[in-house]
Amino acid sequence: MSRVVVVSGGGTGIGRAVAEAFAADGERVVLVGRRPEVLEATAAEITAAADGATPEVEAVAADLSTAAGADRVREVVGARAGGVDVLVNAAGGNVALGAPPAEGSPAERAAEHWTGNFRANVLTAVLLTEALRDLLAPGGRVLLLSSIAAYRGSGTGSYAGTKAALHPYAFDLAAALGPRGITVNVVAPGYVERTEFFRGALSAERERTLIGQTLNGRAGTPEDVAETVRWLASAGAAHVTGQIVQVNGGAERGR
Ligand SMILES: NC(=O)c1ccc[n+]([C@@H]2O[C@H](COP(=O)([O-])OP(=O)(O)OC[C@H]3O[C@@H](n4cnc5c(N)ncnc54)[C@H](OP(=O)(O)O)[C@@H]3O)[C@@H](O)[C@H]2O)c1
Repeated sequence: MSRVVVVSGGGTGIGRAVAEAFAADGERVVLVGRRPEVLEATAAEITAAADGATPEVEAVAADLSTAAGADRVREVVGARAGGVDVLVNAAGGNVALGAPPAEGSPAERAAEHWTGNFRANVLTAVLLTEALRDLLAPGGRVLLLSSIAAYRGSGTGSYAGTKAALHPYAFDLAAALGPRGITVNVVAPGYVERTEFFRGALSAERERTLIGQTLNGRAGTPEDVAETVRWLASAGAAHVTGQIVQVNGGAERGR
């Protein structure tokens, strides 16, 4: 029987690759993001590519940085699917990237970056997880997307700090859900190409630097991350919980 797999940020980048991987396994995938047109196009493309081998991919548009958005996903998923087997929290991003420079005093600019990144990375993951928590099936899986930035910083520290905040949340959640056979793990990628993350703000020089920090001399791909998520969601990973798995070609230790 198909598992119900909810993927936030599933319309683009890493979340999309995660959705493709689970759909390829015949799972019932639900995509969540803010832009309905992006979600619907991705859902239709994945469904078409599966050519009948997977249930139709569904889309729910919601802003997960608000409780109302997370509750809406619960309402729709609860009504359509009843429960959730796998929750992948891939929604997020660095609000400081590709945006016009924040205005105001240094404190006002810092407040904008830190509040924005808290909403984008902590609230999107925590609110959706809490909204779906009691719908999680025994033996379920919760995944959260962190970043190499949680170890190495991110320029202003605000993106990195909010990703790092997910680590103790995942550990506490793993302890709370362990008795139900549910695992909770964090996947922390390094630089991943073919996503909307950088919003056109990644220079060729910066990209060369990021690739140069890896030990295998290449960018990560959305599929690299999706395969790790797929493994952590498998029956074989039942004893792996409360962990942070880095997927970065060795770049956290760097050259
Ligand atoms: N790309 C990298 O190099 C990299 C490295 C390390 C970690 N990460 C992390 O990996 C995750 C996936 O990012 P990505 O690289 O695949 O970038 P991406 O293509 O920009 O994907 C982020 C997704 O999150 C959704 N999203 C953002 N805010 C949301 C909100 N408030 N409510 C609902 N959905 C929201 C976006 O859709 P809408 O705009 O339509 O809402 C988008 O589909 C993120 O958590 C990111 O921080 C990325």
